[in-house]
Amino acid sequence: MLSYQQNAKLTLVGPETPLGRFFRHYWIPAANLEEIAVPGGAPVRVGLLGEKLVAFRDPAGKAGLMQEFCPHRRASLVYGRNEEGGLRCLYHGWKMSQEGRVLETPAEPPTSKLRDNLRHRAYPVREAGGILWTYMGEKDNEPPFPNFPWLNLPSSHLLPVKMYQDCNFLQGLEGDLDPAHPNYLHRDFEVVAEKSWSGAGWQSIANLMSDGSPEIICEETPYLMRVGAVRKTDDPKMKYVRTTEWVAPFYTYIATGPHESQLFKAWLPIDDFTCFTYYIHFNPTQPLDVPAIYANWGHKSEPKTYRTPHNVGNMHLQDRQRMISGNYSGVEGAAIQDRVVQESMGAICDRTGEHLGTSDKAVIFYRRLILRKLDEMDAGKPLPGSDPSLDFQHRTASWYVPSDQPWQDALRYQVEYEQNNPPVAAA
Ligand code: FES
Ligand SMILES: [Fe+2]
Repeated sequence: MLSYQQNAKLTLVGPETPLGRFFRHYWIPAANLEEIAVPGGAPVRVGLLGEKLVAFRDPAGKAGLMQEFCPHRRASLVYGRNEEGGLRCLYHGWKMSQEGRVLETPAEPPTSKLRDNLRHRAYPVREAGGILWTYMGEKDNEPPFPNFPWLNLPSSHLLPVKMYQDCNFLQGLEGDLDPAHPNYLHRDFEVVAEKSWSGAGWQSIANLMSDGSPEIICEETPYLMRVGAVRKTDDPKMKYVRTTEWVAPFYTYIATGPHESQLFKAWLPIDDFTCFTYYIHFNPTQPLDVPAIYANWGHKSEPKTYRTPHNVGNMHLQDRQRMISGNYSGVEGAAIQDRVVQESMGAICDRTGEHLGTSDKAVIFYRRLILRKLDEMDAGKPLPGSDPSLDFQHRTASWYVPSDQPWQDALRYQVEYEQNNPPVAAA
């Protein structure tokens, strides 16, 4: 259980909040490149960490991200003219560059010096992996760009999925810190595991049904943290281990087994009450089965809005008849099942009313770790992921380890298995 103040500290993301300042130490996604694909095309509204921004690509192809509202009298630049070198406000023709310079103020007298003293808030951008990235922190504190292993994969090996979620990001993030919940919420894995998940390259998901009360072990890493979920198997000499890697500020790699497609996730706050979930599916060695991935996760969202038809108002299209006939949640798709429980908590979960147990060990570890990191930030200490020698290459495991061996060796055993057992084509 958290105090009201601790809950606020772990959830609020505006520029003046502790967590908002922490998040502004990192490169984060701002938009998908498909949103600003056309040079000179329509600018798009971007909500990010409680700020209202506009992203665009000028007619010369240069992308930009700036505050939505004109520095003159605050008309929205989403309606603005997209011109080479910046956006021009419709109201009185002021033009702002990608760097935040006010280039022209045509309604002012030619002698006016007004624009010389003004800066429009604008953030640096980078384009990689189908995403427009930004850094919203102090200029001389810019971190190294994270060299994620999936950024340069060809489109046949990379599927970035972006989905709107109607709640604070932490509710989503804490779902990925919860190794026990798939045994319950996602129990339809059990019924259709062979059929449905094999195409998505996730056969190993069925293995976790061997034990609904895993032992959960956490450790701090230079990036943030690592979680191990250790399950009993039918063979007392073997344990089944799933590992999750956490990378500051809100990125995770979900456990995946031998030769399976991998999954990077980001929990990106739009503001305090809404977020985007990024599911980055990738496979460095084989093309992805995209229809199977969408079918199993259920997260195919509408272009532009990145919403799915599911929401609290329509009970996420829950089907009680299916529940009677054996489906645990009555909801189609693992990503939608996650959203059911996360959005059902309300805009910001009232964590003062929780009663945490042993299965919540990773959630507790994360909260304590972040609260400590916020204090360390204020004390000027280096933050996770800030060491320039880090390579940002992660891989997780979903595999078997002899019972007397450390859980951290799961990936080594998995890689050994992969080397001795070449991949077979998906059914
Ligand atoms: S409000 Fe934008 S130019 Fe006047
Ligand atoms: Fe889940």
